[in-house]
Amino acid sequence: MSKIETIGIVGAGQMGGGIAHVSALAGYKVLIYDVGAERIETGIATISGNMARQVASGKLEEQVRKDAMARISAAPDMAGLAGADLVIEAATEDEAVKRKIFAQLCPLLNPEAILATNTSSISITRLASTTDRPERFIGIHFMNPVPVMKLVELVRGIATDDRTFEASKGYVAQLDKTATVSEDFPAFIVNRILLPMINEAIYTLYEGVGSVEAIDTAMKLGANHPMGPLQLADFIGLDTCLSIMQVLHDGLSDSKYRPCPLLVKYVEAGWLGRKAGRGFYDYRGEHPVPTR
Ligand SMILES: NC(=O)c1ccc[n+]([C@@H]2O[C@H](COP(=O)([O-])OP(=O)(O)OC[C@H]3O[C@@H](n4cnc5c(N)ncnc54)[C@H](O)[C@@H]3O)[C@@H](O)[C@H]2O)c1
Repeated sequence: MSKIETIGIVGAGQMGGGIAHVSALAGYKVLIYDVGAERIETGIATISGNMARQVASGKLEEQVRKDAMARISAAPDMAGLAGADLVIEAATEDEAVKRKIFAQLCPLLNPEAILATNTSSISITRLASTTDRPERFIGIHFMNPVPVMKLVELVRGIATDDRTFEASKGYVAQLDKTATVSEDFPAFIVNRILLPMINEAIYTLYEGVGSVEAIDTAMKLGANHPMGPLQLADFIGLDTCLSIMQVLHDGLSDSKYRPCPLLVKYVEAGWLGRKAGRGFYDYRGEHPVPTR
């Protein structure tokens, strides 16, 4: 397998942007694709803004930022990802969406290219089986926000070969991140533990045990969490939280993973958290205000 030099990214949202950010800083060429030119532009502008903040806080030199930004380019269509050695899919957490992307993407890629997914929960083996390259398919699960979080979960599907696993491990090391290996079970390790806690916090709100502020303060000061579970849910995106709970519920057939009806309601309202301007907090003013 040839050396990984160019990373293709599908999805210029929070995660795709973050993966592009750290890959470009680590010296990789990055091609980034999303459903519309405007989304790609917004994604690249967000990366630029985030790197500028790193410069302002003294974590990055201006020249390093400039060089990294010069390594990132927009792929106006999926064919623009054809030259990538590793493509990471970071589109919406919806299996049908991801399958459709792989069906369109695979015929365009070099047969040797590795295809990875950043899915938070969906079976790697099942996703791999819909592609032309289950041996070269793997889960590379970054944490949010990518530039800050040290961990990456590597998840092999049943067919993932050793070369793909080793090349993915090398890529994660080049990013100066730590890889843990998770077996291919619904939501892997981090989200198998984290999301039921967040879902329980939403039940706690739903049942009136406490307000948004009380629940978040309780977990910050009482359990020493750096941020409350409802704030964290907003940060992850409530649509993503709901999808992960649904994957856990369906995949493990255990009622303890039932998504809280209040989470469903917020998602149905389009109150998806920070990225939508409103979730358990309203972010449209100067300071976040609890919505309940
Ligand atoms: N948010 C988190 O904390 C987090 C953490 C780890 C992994 N993930 C996973 O990363 C993935 C992306 O999550 P996100 O938080 O960045 O979501 P997001 O909503 O910020 O971004 C998703 C992007 O995918 C794009 N997209 C949708 N359909 C597409 C298609 N057919 N082709 C190209 N792009 C398409 C959307 O336009 C959007 O820009 C999901 O699988 C999610 O589970 C999320």
